[in-house]
This record gives sequence, structure tokens and C-alpha cells, in this order.
Amino acid sequence: EKGGYDSFMEKEINDQPQAVADTLLGRSDADGRLTLDELRVSPEELKSINKIMVLACGTSAYAGQVAKYAIEHWCRIPVEVELSHEFRYRDPIVDSNTLIVAISQSGETMDTLMAVRYAKEQGAKVLAICNTNGSTIPREADAVLYTHAGPEIAVASTKAFLAQITATYLLGLYLAQIRGNKFQGEIKDILADLAKVPAKIQQVLDSAEDIKELGKLMADTSSVLFLGRHVGFPVAMEGALKLKELAYIHAEGFAAGELKHGPIALIEEGQPVFVVVPSPRGRDSLHAKVVSNIQEIRARGAKTIVIAEEGDDAVKAYAEHIFYVPETPTLLAPLLTTVPLQIFACVLATAKGYDVDQPRNLAKSVTVE
Ligand code: F6R
Repeated sequence: EKGGYDSFMEKEINDQPQAVADTLLGRSDADGRLTLDELRVSPEELKSINKIMVLACGTSAYAGQVAKYAIEHWCRIPVEVELSHEFRYRDPIVDSNTLIVAISQSGETMDTLMAVRYAKEQGAKVLAICNTNGSTIPREADAVLYTHAGPEIAVASTKAFLAQITATYLLGLYLAQIRGNKFQGEIKDILADLAKVPAKIQQVLDSAEDIKELGKLMADTSSVLFLGRHVGFPVAMEGALKLKELAYIHAEGFAAGELKHGPIALIEEGQPVFVVVPSPRGRDSLHAKVVSNIQEIRARGAKTIVIAEEGDDAVKAYAEHIFYVPETPTLLAPLLTTVPLQIFACVLATAKGYDVDQPRNLAKSVTVE
């Protein structure tokens, strides 16, 4: 049942091209129009929303953070992302024009379920993005968009994360379509780019030998930092979370721009730092800024481990290790840049002799608040 792999986690990491492909399957027509009829909420209702709030926990909340960048850019609707367990205790501003997007792999996370109930009481519409058919959160939601990642057995979420991100892209594009945003023509192109992602994830998986080697070499590390910017920021947070929960190593993710506001004080000789570098083809200067961050930490002795886009030669001079992922539009990049970080955590934890499928103190679905 582990499909020839040593762990479910390894299998699920390798299932990711399929998970993304299956989540895209049957959700658009040949003309590049999204057909999310399954949502159970009418286009009219979706047209009237003026704010989106994503509620989720853990890895699912990082998928929500990626969604914020994409949906705000494509739809020009403000998107807030909040941890479910914080939301309900702070008198949040939600009403019937708010669309709540509850993201949950299991559909049973109590914190998220309670947040959904609270939001419904305030009159908000709730759309669930969920991987488990018929579970509680989609049953109580007004609308549901299932991720088709297949059952996720390993406690640490991997393929469900990529499928969640994919589903939020579909939602964003659908909202742009029904709201008549001016970039209609681009939707088709973005869908075409998304359709190419599964094969690109496969390329990352097929070229993972070096990152696996590094994971084994670093088994004795006591602290690892992760930096990212724009959509690379939630990816950095996710990379840190995977390492904490699987390898029990102190790990922290930061927004690269925040470095000089404090975290750079942590950098000393030999400190490993992963940096998720934005595409050099991006419209703005983000790439140059992150490259200069790498320079700064390298000058202070950091061991820099860089995830960058193929062809990005500018990072080479400052990277002790560099792992390339195929070219893709910036907003879609998390579907690729996350994968080496998952593999790194999985291999490192395995090298330490830990059970990656059942990390200590954790449960697959957290059904208590
Ligand atoms: C991390 C992980 C957890 C879950 C979180 C939410 O690898 O598995 O952080 O993402 O407990 O779970 P769901 O998505 O089932 O609501």
C-alpha cells in the first residue's frame, strides 16, 4: 500500500504530480472557462462578496497565504488569512458579503469547524476546500471545492498542500471569470500554465538526489532557518514546519525582507539557511532583493541553501548548495519550490531514525480545540 516506498510520506510526496493533475481535472473546458458547478453556490452570490477570509490551521493555513497573493492579484478582492483558532476570539468583522474559505485536508479539524460555525452565525457564506469527501467541514459549509489528492495517510501534509494551493488557484480564476475582471484573456493562459505543473513537479522529483544527499549530511543540525518572499514566504514557513514536526529540529521561516529587522542577528558561522528565491523573470525587483539577502547572510557565515528557478545564474556565487526548479509563473511557483523542502525534511528525519509517518505528539486530524 506504500507503493514500494519506505513510508507513506515518501509515497505521498511522489504522488504530487497526480494530486495536482487530479485536482485540475474536469474543472475547465477547452475554451479555458472554469466550470465549478459543483460549488453549490450561485455566481450571483459570489459576485456580491467584497472580502474573502481564509481560515485554516498549520500547513493548510500556509496554502491560504499562497492563495492571498494569487486571488488578490487576479480578482482585486481583499483576502485575509487567519488561523482558525485566533479568528473566533477577536470579534472579527464578517457579514453576508464576506466569503469564508475554510481549508482543511481532513475536514474534521475542530478549530476550523468552530470558526466555520461562528462565521455562519455572523451571516457569512462559507466555502470549504477539503480533501475528505463527506467530512464535517464540507457538510456544514455552503459550498465545497474538493481537492483530489487521494487519502493522505502520513501525519505531515504534503500532497494535500499542493492540491489545496491548486484548488485556491481554481477558485481565484473562477471568481475572476464570473466577476468579469478585465484580465479574462489571461485566465486561459494561466490554466495552460497550471496544466504543465504536474510534469514539472515530476522533474523536481526526478532530480532530487542532491537534496536527499544534503538531508542525510545534515542529520546532526540543530537549527535551520528558511527565508522567502512573496509566495516564497509561506513556502519558507512550510519548509520550517515540516522540519520541526518530522525531524524535531528547531526551524523557523521568515519573510526575507524582515531579515534586517531582527532575524539577521541569528546568523553566525555555519548556520544553515534555506532561501526560496523568486523568479528573475518577475516584473519587480524582488529577485535582486532576495539575492542581496543571500549575500548578506553569506557574508556573516551562513551556509546558504538556495531553491531557485532554472537558469538563474545570479544566485550561484552566493549559494553553497543550489537546487533548481523548472520555470513557471511566479504565482504558481509554490507548487514546485515546496517539493525540495518536503524531501529534505523527510530524508533528514529518516536519517535520524524517526518515523516520518507518525511523528511524536501529533495526530492526523486534530478533533479537539
Ligand atoms: C502539517 C499538518 C498540520 C495540518 C493542520 C490542519 O504537516 O499536517 O499542520 O495541516 O493540523 O489540518 P487540516 O488540513 O486537516 O485541517
